[in-house]
Amino acid sequence: MSDLTKNEILNALKKVDDSNFNKDFLILNSIKKFEIKSNNLSVDISITLPASADCKQLQSKFAEALKKEFTDLNKIDINIDAKVTTHQDSSKNAILPGVKNTIAVASGKGGVGKSTVAVNLAVALAKDGASVGLIDADVYGPSIPLMLGLNEKSKIYQDQKSMKMIPLTNYGIKVISIGLLIDDKAPVIWRGPMASGAVKQFMTDVDWGELDYLFFDLPPGTGDIQLTLVQTIPLTGAVIVTTPQEVSLIDARKALKMFTRVNVPILGVIENMSYFIAPDTGKKYDIFGTGGGSKMAVELDAPFLGGIPIDSRIRIGGDNGIPVLYDTPDSEYTAVFTQLSRNLAAQVHIRNLRGNSAAKMEISLDDDE
Ligand SMILES: Nc1ncnc2c1ncn2[C@@H]1O[C@H](COP(=O)(O)OP(=O)(O)OP(=O)(O)O)[C@@H](O)[C@H]1O
Ligand SMILES: [Mg+2]
Repeated sequence: MSDLTKNEILNALKKVDDSNFNKDFLILNSIKKFEIKSNNLSVDISITLPASADCKQLQSKFAEALKKEFTDLNKIDINIDAKVTTHQDSSKNAILPGVKNTIAVASGKGGVGKSTVAVNLAVALAKDGASVGLIDADVYGPSIPLMLGLNEKSKIYQDQKSMKMIPLTNYGIKVISIGLLIDDKAPVIWRGPMASGAVKQFMTDVDWGELDYLFFDLPPGTGDIQLTLVQTIPLTGAVIVTTPQEVSLIDARKALKMFTRVNVPILGVIENMSYFIAPDTGKKYDIFGTGGGSKMAVELDAPFLGGIPIDSRIRIGGDNGIPVLYDTPDSEYTAVFTQLSRNLAAQVHIRNLRGNSAAKMEISLDDDE
């Protein structure tokens, strides 16, 4: 048994039913160290998802799998450490030194559910044990404070160098939004440069501390304002939200093109309002057609992260400021967002391993739509 190899251990672990996780975490350098002494095996595993909440469960599943495979072993010790990776990007480090990954949530068209997706992905990752922040970059129509039930104003303090804003925290995530700084009733007349200026301040003048993921909920569209914003933020990557019907897909393709123009990798496509499940019969209806998001992902060589059903509970969660993950923690909606967020975390990690995730501040405008 002393000649057991890392590959043999890895192969045994791959047999574990990990429906809660993305298999990638097993494939990607997960075994950090292993040692066999008098038929006692000890393995250090580092999973690259913020899944600290599930580590215990995973630990016993792994131990079982190894016991089954290597019957000669007397004792198996498994240590799992869940850690989110980052990429090395000097521009990001300068602006957001404590933030490991920055993710934009975008769409070409308005009202497809960007803010809903951004909020629920952020909340799901935080529930899994990650430290998460969310910047409401939609300074024209900030909806994040309402969706997260935040109605106080953000506090400001003076440090040695400058004024700093303290983000508000709810459901385990840190949030900043123009809605947390100004009066709800005051008219917000922002022009493009001011919008990107505000978002820049949300990065430089907010006390974010250490974060695994910082999400940016972008305003809808692919115009100059969005382009400037995308260039202002040093992004690990972007998530494109679409709905299945063709008109929405055309817009989503524009959003995708905007990111590829400025070398921001697409971490994945999410199809919102994918289907409806009738509460009385449980029957599934494809209201806006089917498979649009996954087809688009294939066409654009971007990962398809998954689909979200249309349901009044998701809308009510947003309207009432209680995300479904907290309102109905055992529901199918919670499971959907948890899975999506883990798929996203795996894609972020894949990008970081490739090492080319730094969004370069380059742009060519000769490209047509
Ligand atoms: N899967 C869903 N099921 C039911 N309602 C949803 C779903 N996704 C979003 N909604 C609702 O649709 C409306 C628009 O969603 P949201 O504000 O998230 O979209 P958006 O893309 O951010 O919009 P905007 O372009 O205005 O920023 C909201 O009322 C939201 O609650
Ligand atoms: Mg929005």
